[in-house]
Amino acid sequence: MRYLIILVSSLCLFSCKNEKKSISKMTPKLIAAANFDTIIEGKKVTLYTLKNKSGAQTQITNYGGTVVSLWVQDKEGNYGDMVLGHNTIAEYLNNPKTYFGSLIGRYGNRIAKGKFSINNIEYSLATNNNENHLHGGTKGYDAVVWDAKQMDAQTLELKYLSPDLEEGYPGNLSITVQYQLTDANELKVEYWATTDKTTIVNLTHHSYFNLKGEGNGTINDHLVHINASRFTPVDASLIPTGVLALVKDTPMDFTTTKPLGKDINADYEQLNIGLGYDHNYVLEQNPTGIHLAARVTEPTTGRIMELYTSEPGVQFYSGNFLDGDVTGKSNKPYEYRSAFCLETQHYPDSPNKPQFPTVVLHPKEEYHSVTLYKFSIVK
Ligand code: GLA
Repeated sequence: MRYLIILVSSLCLFSCKNEKKSISKMTPKLIAAANFDTIIEGKKVTLYTLKNKSGAQTQITNYGGTVVSLWVQDKEGNYGDMVLGHNTIAEYLNNPKTYFGSLIGRYGNRIAKGKFSINNIEYSLATNNNENHLHGGTKGYDAVVWDAKQMDAQTLELKYLSPDLEEGYPGNLSITVQYQLTDANELKVEYWATTDKTTIVNLTHHSYFNLKGEGNGTINDHLVHINASRFTPVDASLIPTGVLALVKDTPMDFTTTKPLGKDINADYEQLNIGLGYDHNYVLEQNPTGIHLAARVTEPTTGRIMELYTSEPGVQFYSGNFLDGDVTGKSNKPYEYRSAFCLETQHYPDSPNKPQFPTVVLHPKEEYHSVTLYKFSIVK
């Protein structure tokens, strides 16, 4: 009997200990700010941390206004880092350009042949994507140092004065971007800009998401809904043809939720050109301002990311250029289609497509745009 009691209690000790181990939750693993402390072009660079009341955290460097990490819970209460990125500033500087987590401008997405005209004056921009201009040029806003001010525990304000003719764009553009991690678990990105000469502006944010956590495999199983019945088909160089095509009865259709990878390998011209999804969707707009752009659910962790925006479009990019060459924060290679981007924006090549919503900003006007990445758990 005595032996039996000892056996039972030691078994309990063993299993209780194990139970304790299995219920210990994953907590955010923050990156040391010192890993980003440096001076670039005479400006101080560092890493800021924002935290909301429920414990979600994000780290942002003022180099490129880059979101470096974003920790939210899953259905078990475990934190995971939702975005691809690096642990040190050196890796951001030395790796091939991926735009991981960066702010993008002056014009997010492509402009055909890097040319556009305003009032019959033709401007020429860098052609950094074959014959086209992409994401602001050779040195876009992803590669400049922003002036940063942490306003409170949940808000970071970034400012940048983009000089007249920087990368070929006319006008001194004065930009403010606010990142806020709200108590509703939203990463809110708000943009304002003014100019002293008529110019074009299309700012966006370029996080690569994996709702299982960065480095945790493919995103083909994420369930995706995009609130758009039309998209802008592209030519072989990814420039819109100018048509707004219906997604209905094509692999481009995400009006009804489906796995991201369900149709991605279909033999469909647009997917062959994009090597997967790399397309602008024409969002169903809510006349009162902010509208739902997309909802992505990851079934195993129960995480949901909803995207709301004031912008008329969103570029859905399925990580087709990731190829395992770049190693990320957890020391795992970022494989083909291991993250997706949803870049809220005006449509690509709008400066050359008068039928698209305008991207022209005049002096005395204010550019204003807002996007929310809202995280929640499947009920
Ligand atoms: C955007 C573009 C893609 C690609 C990525 C960055 O999403 O549309 O074609 O250039 O940026 O690699």
